[in-house]
Amino acid sequence: MLDQATLSPFEGPLHDVARRVLVRHPEHAMYRAGVLSASAYYAFVDRIAPELVAAGVPACEVHFAKRYPRDPELFVREALARLAHAGIVPDATPQRAGAASAMEHAAQYDHGGYGTFIYPEEALLLSALAAAWSARSAVFLGSYYGYWASCVAAEIVTRGGRAVLVDPDPHANAVARRNHARYGDAVRVETATGAEFLAAANDTFDLVVIDAELPRSHPDPDEAGKAIYRGLLRDVLPHCAPRAHFVFHNILFEDVTGDAYLAGIVARNERELGRFRAVAARELDTFVELASTEGVGVGVRLR
Ligand SMILES: C[S@@+](CC[C@H](N)C(=O)[O-])C[C@H]1O[C@@H](n2cnc3c(N)ncnc32)[C@H](O)[C@@H]1O
Repeated sequence: MLDQATLSPFEGPLHDVARRVLVRHPEHAMYRAGVLSASAYYAFVDRIAPELVAAGVPACEVHFAKRYPRDPELFVREALARLAHAGIVPDATPQRAGAASAMEHAAQYDHGGYGTFIYPEEALLLSALAAAWSARSAVFLGSYYGYWASCVAAEIVTRGGRAVLVDPDPHANAVARRNHARYGDAVRVETATGAEFLAAANDTFDLVVIDAELPRSHPDPDEAGKAIYRGLLRDVLPHCAPRAHFVFHNILFEDVTGDAYLAGIVARNERELGRFRAVAARELDTFVELASTEGVGVGVRLR
């Protein structure tokens, strides 16, 4: 039994909670259909904020609803086109079978009391990228309870590949293990910090997914919040195959909504992720920010 303090106030994707409210309003369908302008949609989100909060969306998370894409599949198609143009994926065409299987696994996931800020377009995106890159050896640093990894595990394992999920939280790992047990030894869940795991690992990875986070009250500013990305990126580099691909959650430096709270998130990221960005600029050959709900960074290292 999990300690209630470790559990989220909502279970599963936060987007599911918000969506139950959004679909009650015609503006949501109009936005998805492309007949409501972005600015009218932002005003709509502000108007229904109390309803979203009453349904269980934390007040600060309501602002992110302004960044929901009109259509997750369209988001992925546009993202792949941009990444193909940047030379990060070979081809701009998403593989539909993989996407369907990713969403099926995501829908069947046993969240074990945990909640996730991985949004539908971010789940689909990771699946599309793993397929486009034919990933065979993935590491997830800050795998939490394994939800994001579940969007690509079947894809990787079917190709004869393997994945390792790394997180120091044993409770979250137990949920990840339960959900990934069907893959046998092809998916390992390691209870360790990324630094501990990488110091002892002999593995080589062609896909690195980083989503670790420490409390912002952590005494070391180089580790607090998402600042931990810098050390994890530095530590994983010796374990990377030539032409390794990288996916980072919460890369949000550009926001077009005009929302003051989100402007604050950008300012915080500038401070917290500044040193990570410098390492990424030096060590990755290309790095692109995609404007998903929480922001995703995608990179490639050719060396
Ligand atoms: C809470 S999750 C991020 C949530 C995720 N974005 C989602 O919405 O599903 C961050 C995870 O990073 C893990 N973590 C903290 N320090 C870490 C480290 N040094 N190495 C790897 N993971 C770490 C935490 O245990 C936690 O499970």
